[in-house]
Amino acid sequence: MSTTPVKVAVTGAAGNIGYSLLFRIASGALLGPDTPVELRLLEVTPALKALEGVVMELDDCAFPLLAGIETGDDAETIFDGVNAALLVGAMPRKDGMDRADLLAANGKIFTGQGAALNKSAADDVKILVTGNPANTNALIAMTNAPDIPRERFNALTRLDHNRAKGQLAKKLAVSVEEIKGLAIWGNHDDSMYPDLYNTTVGGKVAADLVDEAWIKDEYIPKVAGRGGAIIKARGASSAASAASATIDHMHDWVLGSDEIVSMSVPSDGSYGVPEGIISSFPCRVSNGSYEIVQGIELNDFSRERIMASAARLQGERDQVKELGLI
Ligand code: NAD
Ligand code: LMR
Repeated sequence: MSTTPVKVAVTGAAGNIGYSLLFRIASGALLGPDTPVELRLLEVTPALKALEGVVMELDDCAFPLLAGIETGDDAETIFDGVNAALLVGAMPRKDGMDRADLLAANGKIFTGQGAALNKSAADDVKILVTGNPANTNALIAMTNAPDIPRERFNALTRLDHNRAKGQLAKKLAVSVEEIKGLAIWGNHDDSMYPDLYNTTVGGKVAADLVDEAWIKDEYIPKVAGRGGAIIKARGASSAASAASATIDHMHDWVLGSDEIVSMSVPSDGSYGVPEGIISSFPCRVSNGSYEIVQGIELNDFSRERIMASAARLQGERDQVKELGLI
């Protein structure tokens, strides 16, 4: 077992996602069974009391890998020396809202947190934004942290990736393990695009195994609308699945994966997606870094959907520019 604990910051630690996330991090699901972790938990002042209760429960689990816990409401102090930062803390949307409706309320959280990470995080920090609208919040944090390499800022579309896999597996009555190459493109909003033309199931192209009408009229809307459907059913936004996807993303980013995974990363212009936004791409991850998969053939439908989602992200970017957040 390595001895130096990895410092993992979680914001919004007393919230719903936090309650699923912290216990899995402390159990070793994030960084593996040999890596001790120190949790650095950030909350707003009124939530610190509730956070105390969560910390009591963490203590009561007696996790062997949990080397320490620090809590507080000052971002610079909590982010001091952190190697991974999971930025979850933000308001969730309510039924009838779009995620972009949260920009004005949540966007400003990420100016301060970006600046605090810039000042106090470790040189190797990796930052993953889950709080919505995740892609543009990550852009805000990145822009406010000029000394941290841009590629260290990611946003979460792994939940959409997992949903896309789950729905396809259900339709074809196969195990999710048979599905390869599936990826989400674009924004974590209803314009996101799960590409079945470059996905294989048991070695066959997924789009050839289903009707085109099912892809366009049922599958894509179902994956894209899943967050809203959960809010309607649960009366609260997804939490355990969001925490699980947050773990999946950071786990693979740090430890690598044999699979293609969906990660929202700063666009480098690949596939015509304009630079200056953080968009989801199919990525490969190894040795602690990711690469956007190159050479994927996109048909006209896919290209159109990807560019439409990129246009949404450009719209959000323009909105936060107007708000003075970037
Ligand atoms: P929640 O309301 O239960 O918890 C949010 C927590 O964040 C609260 O405890 C709040 O006090 C805290 N918080 C608010 N501002 C903060 C700040 N400046 N610093 C630190 N903490 C702060 O919400 P939740 O269900 O845990 O969801 C959190 C966010 O994650 C929401 O924006 C939600 O929409 C988003 N989300 C994203 C995905 C995704 O796939 N990207 C999935 C699910 C939820
Ligand atoms: C989700 O996809 O479940 C989250 O982004 C919450 C939401 O607002 O849909």
